[in-house]
Amino acid sequence: MREIAVIHGPNLNLLGRREPSVYGQQSLQDINESIEQLAGSLSLAVRFFQSNAEHELIDYIHSCIDSVDAVIINPAAFTHTSIAIRDALLAVRLPFIEVHVSNVAAREPFRQQSYFADKAVATISGLGAEGYLAALRFWPTYIF
Ligand code: DQA
Repeated sequence: MREIAVIHGPNLNLLGRREPSVYGQQSLQDINESIEQLAGSLSLAVRFFQSNAEHELIDYIHSCIDSVDAVIINPAAFTHTSIAIRDALLAVRLPFIEVHVSNVAAREPFRQQSYFADKAVATISGLGAEGYLAALRFWPTYIF
């Protein structure tokens, strides 16, 4: 069975309470539960990780090197700043999909820059929590 790591960056632990008009009403736990449920019906295994710390995200990505097939990552604000997390994903050579809950293209200019988009299999932005589910549905069609 293919295993997918779903990685959430800083402040996403506050989903549901954080700027709900931008990021929606669903908590991270709600989102992870819906991902887990869909994974079962797609015959995928999923594991979850959230951190507010850049080095923890990097260490977790490293830990995926021999045990995970692909990654779904919302790097949150690190999208726009972190060469280190980009390098970690390239180092482990795992295909990844970049997900954003909000439509970053329609927001502030500093959110227009992503250190991930040019290396991602795809970027999904603006579909709310559905973006994670769309990303998950894609992996069974991917040629590994
Ligand atoms: C985000 C968009 C980022 O710009 C922001 O810093 C976040 C969340 C999103 O999911 O829409 O924390 O990645």
